[in-house]
Amino acid sequence: MDPLIFLDNGATSFPKPAEVYEFMDSFYRRFGVNPGRSGYDLCLETGAMVEQTRALLTGLFNGTDPNRLCFGYNSTDALNLIIFGLLQPGDHAVTTTLEHNSVLRPLYLLSGDQGVAVDHVPFDGRGFVDPDDVAAAFRKNTRLVMINHASNVIGTVQPVAEIGRLCRERGIVMAIDASQSAGQVPIDIQAMNVDVVAFTGHKSLLGPTGIGGLYVREGVNIRLTRAGGTGVRSAQRTHLEEYPYRLEYGTPNVLGIAGLQAGLKWLTKQGLGSIHEREMALTRRLRDGLREIEGVTLYCQDDLTGHISVLVFNVDGLDSPNVATMLDVDHNIACRAGLHCAPLAHEGLGTAKIEGAVRFGIGPFNTEEHIEAAVAAVAEIAAFQRKKRGE
Ligand SMILES: Cc1ncc(COP(=O)(O)O)c(C=O)c1O
Repeated sequence: MDPLIFLDNGATSFPKPAEVYEFMDSFYRRFGVNPGRSGYDLCLETGAMVEQTRALLTGLFNGTDPNRLCFGYNSTDALNLIIFGLLQPGDHAVTTTLEHNSVLRPLYLLSGDQGVAVDHVPFDGRGFVDPDDVAAAFRKNTRLVMINHASNVIGTVQPVAEIGRLCRERGIVMAIDASQSAGQVPIDIQAMNVDVVAFTGHKSLLGPTGIGGLYVREGVNIRLTRAGGTGVRSAQRTHLEEYPYRLEYGTPNVLGIAGLQAGLKWLTKQGLGSIHEREMALTRRLRDGLREIEGVTLYCQDDLTGHISVLVFNVDGLDSPNVATMLDVDHNIACRAGLHCAPLAHEGLGTAKIEGAVRFGIGPFNTEEHIEAAVAAVAEIAAFQRKKRGE
């Protein structure tokens, strides 16, 4: 069988650049100790690498203070810190129906027994949320607006700058879930009026799994919802209030931070814009190929302006998990089927009751040949299905 074609980059980027694997191995072998805890050379060297990566990420988001970049384990971890640290009983939050369960579920938890009210603003037929709809949901007690910057289902990039402007006018904190967008599209927290960014390292930032975090703009303070060791001021009975310690707990993922640093350096060297342009050229090609196939339905892909490189589709008469299995078993193509942890997005698309859709996610190492093969494979599956139905 032909070698694996990996089109599941929406779930995680694979493979990573060779530099990521190499730096993780060499750094961890030489310096893999606990940073910020002691004064010996290895410890200082590890600490310096962590601080360099903090500075690189702060620069990527156009933040002003690297200390406000806090490392955690993934977006889910960061989003939980944000949601539980900003909302209290009696508060109201506005979010969208495009959110991932890593936003929906913490909010359901708070709205269930902790007296937080939540509104979910729907997206339009093209897959975008209207900033005026977000503003229309504001109440006197709205404390947080939480927006999925780029949808992991339909790939649309939301107008966060305008939503952020409306939030600023009302003194409401706007946080973005940049899980899919970080590393694919520019994020300038100053120009985009963003207060808090949650990111995960293993998708378009090209790092390994298990590393992520958040950037918190000055003036916004996330309440402490956890406490633990920080390596400094050990006699203090309370967790440190100052950033980054405030939102960091225990031994950091040094290996993950090293890999993320190498991923960031690779991205910067190649140019984020040129990688994204290339991925979008492949996405357009894939979209054009798929929409020629009889019996294939694409969702929100008519105009790929303001999109990242994921797209979803269904084959008439087949559940998406079946299509994914055929792509895997018969064509050695890896993709993701189902609801993509975003059940409300699929409700909005009308695909929740038919087991979701098939998602292809394109990454920096995909080629035109991969796209041709994917289109040919879906065409074969759709033709087989039409024949079975006697069409
Ligand atoms: C939009 C979005 N938010 C949050 C997440 C959660 O990321 P992680 O599993 O790395 O915490 C994902 C991952 O699929 C995502 O696509």
